[in-house]
Amino acid sequence: MNDVAELRYNGKTYKLPVIAGSEGEKAIDISRLRAESGMITMDYGFANTGSCTSNITFMDGEKGVLRYCGIPVEQLAEKATFKETAYLLINGHLPNRRQLTDFSVLLNDHSLVHEDMKIFYQNFPRASHPMGILSAMVNALRSFYPALHESEEEINITVTRLLAKVRTMAAMSYKISLGHTVVYPRPDLAYCENFLNMMFDSPVRPYQLKPEVIKALRVFWILHADHEQNCSTAAVRVVGSSRANLYAAISAGIAALWGPLHGGANQAVIEMLTQIQKNNGDFKSAIGRAKDRNDPFRLMGFGHRVYKTYDPRAKIMKKVCDDLLGALSIQDPLLDLAVELEEAALKDPYFIDHNLYPNVDFYSGIVLRAIGIPTNMFTVMFAIGRLPGWIAQWKESMDDPNWKISRPRQVYIGETLHDFVPIDDRE
Ligand code: SDX
Repeated sequence: MNDVAELRYNGKTYKLPVIAGSEGEKAIDISRLRAESGMITMDYGFANTGSCTSNITFMDGEKGVLRYCGIPVEQLAEKATFKETAYLLINGHLPNRRQLTDFSVLLNDHSLVHEDMKIFYQNFPRASHPMGILSAMVNALRSFYPALHESEEEINITVTRLLAKVRTMAAMSYKISLGHTVVYPRPDLAYCENFLNMMFDSPVRPYQLKPEVIKALRVFWILHADHEQNCSTAAVRVVGSSRANLYAAISAGIAALWGPLHGGANQAVIEMLTQIQKNNGDFKSAIGRAKDRNDPFRLMGFGHRVYKTYDPRAKIMKKVCDDLLGALSIQDPLLDLAVELEEAALKDPYFIDHNLYPNVDFYSGIVLRAIGIPTNMFTVMFAIGRLPGWIAQWKESMDDPNWKISRPRQVYIGETLHDFVPIDDRE
């Protein structure tokens, strides 16, 4: 028997179908609501609104559960490579050995950036933010690779091209910002190793790849790989819904991720901790400001729209942080400060009552500092990690029979009808 919800208003009853997900989530399908009642729903920030069904990522915000295609993120962080995780998200299953080899060959073959794109980098002001550069360069890929996604094969090449080039483009922006020689990708290095080498190798000082650093980066990117319908993924889906090309949709996702309330939070956490450190480590006043409704200050790296318990990724990131700093014998005072801040906040009634816990961004910046990533590239690191998820969600929306162009409604609260007033009659 079909599950139905009833809405009663103004003496009328509207029957709305209820759909159920494979994990028991339920949703009231309001697709017919306006046609039948003349009314729409209002949901600021879409906090209670589903935009699609999806079989990519499952989150349980109350239990702190995160799975990619049914596999717990904890297992992927422990056992998978980032390449395998990217393949899983985009194809819906882990690759067998042959599929992984073919994927690796394609990633290698497409890892170079067109030499003409270097000129773009050289003409950005030196202080340009790497997220603005990355968003622009990804969009520019369309000009260099017009054949996009007419066939399955073209889609796979476009997808692999993006995954392969995004690392090279990110590392190029760093090297060129320093006025250093660009380091090219190497066929003998795997995904994470290649990125580290492109970032830190130099003709006069060869970069020494360390297993602990490679592991930290692998886990960092796996933890960021997808997160269902977050702000930037929603942006990718909205832009993709007009049938704009994949590069444009991903460029929009990068732009949305840039915000300090979203992916920009990892940079904002380090800036917040540095500010507290300058203020004699007084984290108590930061907590006080975060609780003050009249103060726009928020505890960066805390809180989440979906997780109302500890972000499972933050738990893993904290262990990565401890292991990496221990292995590299790094004493980062910001880590000590972050631990103190977390302990104090988790005991504070305001944070308890508001279900505010550390999210993925709270410790991730300290890991990136230990690797040697400059602070203004922290969100670029998030974007490289999230790229497979954006691509997977874009592909799923293209294949969704229920998909249509995104076009929300509104409730108009402006001026009611009145006539044009000639300029000489205006006050
Ligand atoms: C990411 O969606 C995703 O999945 C995102 C992400 C992903 O992987 O894609 O997980 C990545 O973006 C993680 C979040 C990174 N952002 C930050 O760390 C910035 C700080 N956090 C907040 O700005 C906030 O918690 C958000 C933006 C993350 C969530 O905001 P919501 O769900 O819209 O919650 P809200 O703003 O309505 O806040 C609810 C209440 C408010 O208090 P009241 O007015 O109800 O009394 O909680 C308070 C807020 O003031 N609150 C905070 C707070 N976060 C929420 N108060 C102090 N510090 C905070 N960090």
